[in-house]
Amino acid sequence: MVGSFEVMGAYADEYRRSMEDPTGFWAEQAAAIDWVTPPERVLDDARAPLYSWFPDAELNTCVNAVDRHVAAGRGDQIAVIHDSAITGEVQKVTYRELQDRVARFAGALAALGVAKGDRVVVYLPMITEAVIAMLACARLGAVHSVVFGGFAAPELAARLDDARPKVIVTASCGLEAAKVLPYLPIVHAAIDVAVEEPEAVVVLQRPQLRADLGRLDVDWEDAVAHAAPAEPVPVQATDPLYILYTSGTTGRPKGVVRDNGGHAVALAYSMRAVYDVRPGEVWWTASDVGWVVGHSYIVYAPLLIGATTVVYEGKPVGTPDAGAFWRVVERHRVVALFTAPTALRAIRKEDPEAELLARSDTSTLRTLFMAGERLDPDTYAWASEKLGVPVVDHWWQTETGWPVSANLRGLEPMPIKPGSSTVPVPGYGVRIVDDRGTEAEAGAEGAVVISLPMPPGTLATLWGDDQRFIDSYLSTFDGYYLTGDGGYIDSDGYLFVMGRTDDVMNVAGHRLSTGSMEAVIASHPAVAECAVIGVADPLKGQVPRALVVLKAGVAIDPDTLCDEVVARVRDTIGAVAALREVVVVQGLPKTRSGKILRRSMRALAEGRNEAVPSTIEDPAVLESLRGTLSP
Ligand code: COA
Ligand code: AMP
Repeated sequence: MVGSFEVMGAYADEYRRSMEDPTGFWAEQAAAIDWVTPPERVLDDARAPLYSWFPDAELNTCVNAVDRHVAAGRGDQIAVIHDSAITGEVQKVTYRELQDRVARFAGALAALGVAKGDRVVVYLPMITEAVIAMLACARLGAVHSVVFGGFAAPELAARLDDARPKVIVTASCGLEAAKVLPYLPIVHAAIDVAVEEPEAVVVLQRPQLRADLGRLDVDWEDAVAHAAPAEPVPVQATDPLYILYTSGTTGRPKGVVRDNGGHAVALAYSMRAVYDVRPGEVWWTASDVGWVVGHSYIVYAPLLIGATTVVYEGKPVGTPDAGAFWRVVERHRVVALFTAPTALRAIRKEDPEAELLARSDTSTLRTLFMAGERLDPDTYAWASEKLGVPVVDHWWQTETGWPVSANLRGLEPMPIKPGSSTVPVPGYGVRIVDDRGTEAEAGAEGAVVISLPMPPGTLATLWGDDQRFIDSYLSTFDGYYLTGDGGYIDSDGYLFVMGRTDDVMNVAGHRLSTGSMEAVIASHPAVAECAVIGVADPLKGQVPRALVVLKAGVAIDPDTLCDEVVARVRDTIGAVAALREVVVVQGLPKTRSGKILRRSMRALAEGRNEAVPSTIEDPAVLESLRGTLSP
């Protein structure tokens, strides 16, 4: 299914080898990792459709990301550059300092009772300590679960209830341009409603806001001051490294489980084959450690290969201006930048002629990588023209942990087609299927699926719930993982991902579930039923719009309703949900059996008229619904 690339080129050869002999291929890639016990067996398929990679091997991920580089003579190389557009400060940490700080924080966690297999929830802003906390967990064989700071207390509580952490690590506050966002009250509120209390909360006090510590709270500095550095603990390659919760199609968040061994092998491979970044080079992913992009490409991948990673606190615009990204590239001599299209749209809006870009020397930049949402051809064209480097779209998701399709810059750069995330990455058998599971012809749209087993680094399961993993992803089409995205492959083998086919939406590159927003809105006393639809937005790609049917006889001012619903979603899910628009409608389109036709509404919102709602027969109501859904 890779069109003309099957017959020629380095990519075609490597892709074919990865699919025909996956165990041989991944055994070779495993040589890039330092093992305590090297793998003898590569793939365990005894529990198919659940697969595990390197089942008999042992390693420590922190050793691979930190210690081994110090041992190899890279101790004085900068590992982490923290650059805050908010405070204006830049801090650089060498690999040797990182080793010391991680070992000491791991010692502090150990002193609080954290041991191999225990969970630690990390709720931190974009500061070096977020990287340290994650690596410290990895050093102990503990399982971190980082929660994005834009989530509110109830969402955090849902994650606490699922992960049952022994310790939470947080900071006194996050910083945004004009705001200091207190973090500790959110943690306390989450603990209050969670089923179980953690044993301790480690709090990093930031100078911008010192928090009053409560009963369970321990000051980060105190904890570290009394701690002995912890030695790395060997773990099985199949042991969990982290849980990352992601919006699912139903209320309860899904805890995507990443293993240690497959993850390290896959990420190291991706830095070479996909990103073409080498040890010692400066790499910058402008995302947040709370998302998978941050886990993989702010923290683990660059450190696993001994590169320097930039941890950036700030937005692409506003603080101080839309030239912020380019100044970071210049200041740190960044060779490759990875961000979401929404960041570029924000920059372009403020600086359409790229005058601020022209003021910085970005000549070190070889490639701009884009993911997190669809890269629209217009933004692609603007960025390529203004930057003068390849602007490379690539597609993946929390579950896969690393790119599924890409233009593999280190293996064989290919011509770019705007709108395409290019070809399947070695290891991924990407197919397009119709509703019955029949493979689609080139150019025909369908569900994007991936043949099993997926390569190392992809999700092992959902935390504590193998059956939910099977039901959610592996049951729709036998032998395939369901990505939830729709798209097509053209006759050259290029993949075009067109958007989600389920209730997941992408707002400013942030993954959200319309289902969980609907659950919150439905709890408003005036609301009979509701639907949340993603409508096109020139900056954020998509924004949620809530369509609300009022209970019979209820009279409420639309502005009051909007304010109350927005506040409810903000307090329950978080500011990140970014719901601003609430519209009262007469009815929602439904099937004869009463199921709300969300797909039809999405089609209307996208301007496609294919779907005529079946139960709304009054043309005036239908017309008003169409008007409500237009961007
Ligand atoms: N902690 C606390 N609150 C946060 C937060 C965090 N880490 N991140 C976002 N929020 C809050 C914001 O303060 C904002 O609150 P407000 O409604 O009170 O203003 C809300 O969540 C929405 O934030 P956002 O969606 O980021 O909108 P914005 O208007 O502030 O910024 C962009 C728009 C496009 C500039 C910004 O979203 C951006 O830079 N996106 C890049 C995307 C990205 O990195 N994606 C990651 C995947 S690669
Ligand atoms: P997340 O799990 O937060 O990384 O979000 C994953 C989802 O974002 C995917 O399933 C896609 O819907 C969307 N996505 C990510 N990258 C791309 C891309 N390059 N093109 C189109 N959609 C993308």
